[in-house]
Parts: sequence; C-alpha cells; structure tokens
Amino acid sequence: MSCGFNAIERIILSHDADEKCAATHHLHSHFNDYEFNHDHHPNGIATPGYPLALELVAPKSLKRRGISSQVGRNVLLHAIAHIEFNAINLALDAAYRFRNQPEQFYRDWIQVADDEARHFAMIRQYLNQHDCEYGHYPAHNGLWEMAVSTQHDIVARMALVPRVLEARGLDVTPGIIQRLDNVNDHKAVEILKVIYQDEIGHVDIGSRWFFYHCQQRELEPRSTFLKMVETHLHGELRGPFNISARLQAGFDQMEMRAIDAKYGAQ
Ligand SMILES: [Fe+2]
Repeated sequence: MSCGFNAIERIILSHDADEKCAATHHLHSHFNDYEFNHDHHPNGIATPGYPLALELVAPKSLKRRGISSQVGRNVLLHAIAHIEFNAINLALDAAYRFRNQPEQFYRDWIQVADDEARHFAMIRQYLNQHDCEYGHYPAHNGLWEMAVSTQHDIVARMALVPRVLEARGLDVTPGIIQRLDNVNDHKAVEILKVIYQDEIGHVDIGSRWFFYHCQQRELEPRSTFLKMVETHLHGELRGPFNISARLQAGFDQMEMRAIDAKYGAQ
C-alpha cells in the first residue's frame, strides 16, 4: 500500500495543472488503497507547485478590468481559476499537515480537493475556449500565506481558511454572478453557480471540524473564532456578509450577529 501522506505531498508540489487534478481525482476515488502512516511529521511547504508560467506578484499590483469585454472576463475568470487552484492545494494541505485525526477528516478534505480540481477544470475550459490559459496573467500568493501562518494550529487553520477565506467567496460570488449575467455571459454564470453551491458545503465541512477541535480543547467556538481573526488578520475581516449562505455553512445566528456587528460595516 502506498502512503497517502506522501501522495498528497507530491500532488501539492506538482507544477503541472493536469497532473495535479488527475492525481487528486485518483487519490479521492482510490482512498481505500492508501495507508495513512501517522508516525512521520509533515514537511513544511513554503510554496506549492504552480504552473511555471504563472507569475506571483503583490496583490496591489494586480490590475482590475471591466467585464464588458471578453478580455476583462478572462482576467476575472483567471483570478477565480487561481483561487480554485489554490483551493486544491489548501484542501490537500489540511489533510497532509494535521496528523492523528479521525479518518473522516482525511476523507472530507480529499473530497473538497476533488471538488476544487473539478472547479478549476471547469474554469480552465472556459479560459481555453476564449484563447486564454491559466498562467497568462499574474496572480497573488495571499491564500497560501494563510496556510503557512496556520500550519501549526488546526483550530486556526479551520477558522482562517474555510471560515474566512472560503466564506468570503460566499459573500462575493452572488454579486459576480449578477454582473456576469448583466453582460450575458451565460457559461460563466453557470460555472459560478455550481461553484457557489459546492463552496457552501466546503465551508460547512470547515465549520464542523472547527467546532470539533474547539470541543477537543474545551474552547468556546464563537469567541475563539473572533480571537483567531484578530490574531491572524489583525481584525481585518471584510463584510458585507452573505448571512443566509453563511448560516447554511455552519455559522449560527448568534455568531453571525456578533461578526456582522463588529465587521459588517467595513
Ligand atoms: Fe472551489
């Protein structure tokens, strides 16, 4: 039996998008063929594999364009492709980094990675149909930086990656869908609707594991979440929030009221 953790590490480090997606699907569909040996410590991964053509730059240097032109929509969808590509790495890293968890933890994050690889492929196909490829435009590395800063604490990871970064996707995606609908890009709308529904499930998985680990450590989850936001984001949680989607994704009413009161107006 090959080691699941070694396989995951290889996939995270893979630079080739096709190879990364195919290997993720294989890991997911052959989960039972892998053995997860918890005796070894995970390696630190400073940078996951990206296509060699992709230039990583500071977030501020990225240009935004209007989406009335196809080029503008390619830039937008390219940015989303980068988020999905990162999301494959982030989900796999949750499974790779945190050892001695219940088996369902590994099943869940490999399932999320499998979904993310499917999302990436849908957007990449869209880009290819419009003479664009992942790597044509620069992108930023902020998502992986959050993985590194939370690599030693599973509670911080579950709070910051699914419940902050991915949950932000729930806030902004309906507006992006509306803008794309306004310019009659039906294909892009269709793709983003699929992604949006799946991401509710991913944030919910993150919420469940966040609550599980808070319980293990006897931490009160609502105040712990806010404390993690203060520590890792210096309190810069951005609203406005999509409260109904977040309620479906494992946030509760009282928690959303507290988050909205503190950050909703930012
Ligand atoms: Fe996704």
